[in-house]
Amino acid sequence: MINCDLIIKNISQLITPVLNNNSGNQIENTLVKNCHGGAYLKIISPAEVGIKKGKIVYAGSPWDNLQVKNEGKIIDARGLIALPAFVDPHTHLIFSGYRAEEFHLRLQGTTYLEILRRGGGILSTVKKVRDSSFEELYQDSKNHLLTLVENGTTTIEVKSGYGLDLENEVKMLEVTRALNNEGIARFIPTFMGLHAVPSEYQGKTREYVEYMTDEVLPIIAEKKLAHFVDVFVEKGVFSPEEALPFLEKSLKLGFKIRLHADEFSDIGAIPLACRVGAVTAEHLLTTSDASLLAMAKNKVMAILLPGTIFSLGLEGFPFFNRFQKAGLKVALGTDFNPGTSMTESMEFIISLAVTRLKMPLEDAIVASTLHGATSLGLEDITGSLETGKSADLIFLNLPNYQHLGYRQGISHVKAVFFAGKLVSTGYTKLGKYNF
Ligand code: NIG
Ligand code: FE
Repeated sequence: MINCDLIIKNISQLITPVLNNNSGNQIENTLVKNCHGGAYLKIISPAEVGIKKGKIVYAGSPWDNLQVKNEGKIIDARGLIALPAFVDPHTHLIFSGYRAEEFHLRLQGTTYLEILRRGGGILSTVKKVRDSSFEELYQDSKNHLLTLVENGTTTIEVKSGYGLDLENEVKMLEVTRALNNEGIARFIPTFMGLHAVPSEYQGKTREYVEYMTDEVLPIIAEKKLAHFVDVFVEKGVFSPEEALPFLEKSLKLGFKIRLHADEFSDIGAIPLACRVGAVTAEHLLTTSDASLLAMAKNKVMAILLPGTIFSLGLEGFPFFNRFQKAGLKVALGTDFNPGTSMTESMEFIISLAVTRLKMPLEDAIVASTLHGATSLGLEDITGSLETGKSADLIFLNLPNYQHLGYRQGISHVKAVFFAGKLVSTGYTKLGKYNF
């Protein structure tokens, strides 16, 4: 007998990645597709989900003949399709202010690194974050969070890096912790003190790295404010040699490493990632095939961020088949930030992945859910609709999963559950989606 305190029935199609395909393709009503990175995508039509104390106790066909005892509510999904809530493994969502003007300037020809050199770009957001009180930064960031959740994302990696001094990096990470405590999404914080060199250290990159390494990093560790560290390894920002002592100290203090790698230029970020055992390398626009193979060998996951390339108006989207051929596990993220990717929508990222990265839709779904969770060490907690996992799931108004990517520019998410709790609902006047 399976005990539930919530059953969601009348789901027209339930789509979930799985790592084991024990049942093969044999079950009626279930289709299983092979995907990259050792995953499969299971498609069950129709389906039901049973939840107890915020966890999934079953997710399957209503004809599975399970003995179910429901002690709580029944929700009618009214024929919507269900997916695991999206996992966004790369965001910069704690910020104040916007950079719309620079966005348009850039598209008219001024380059991103040129804007950064002029004290704009990241540094203009640094100024706004430093000028914001904790409360202001909290409210601004909460607005971004609500939009992410409404768009179906409930697990979010968040990088600091708009403070660039002890006080303001701690402020950003404490805002992240406070938002996590709102209980509508799960945050994984990353300390990114090496995101840019602040104006007070211009021309003194080495001194800045020493300050971050010796003075700030140990305090972030002591306050347990981050799981990961990240460095923007890029021409004109931080070289691999400059980043190395910071990363070595991070490892000693127990942090895991993610790296902004090969975003605009290949200056050796991947050999560095392999050397320090990074969990992920992120962006990867200019990565060579040799580096992709080195990543696979060293089990460095690839995080691809097509929203950034789109928003910067660049060409050169990296084709997924190169990553697949190298044997890499790929996750997709928004890179949500006020400068280079002002989108909270993983549905939009899936559209870009299928149109620009030429990623098969099934791989894009796995990359937006389970592989993202794996990159954050959360593969046993979220990213798929399987027994024992947190009931993080979304309902979309689409006839079937193949409409993902194909239907562009609007959100189809009509309800979002986080740990079994309804956290967002696309209510319309007709009451059609009134969960
Ligand atoms: O991932 N590349 C560095 N960091 C961000 C941009 C941050 C910003 O411009 O504010 C990125 O593109
Ligand atoms: Fe980024």
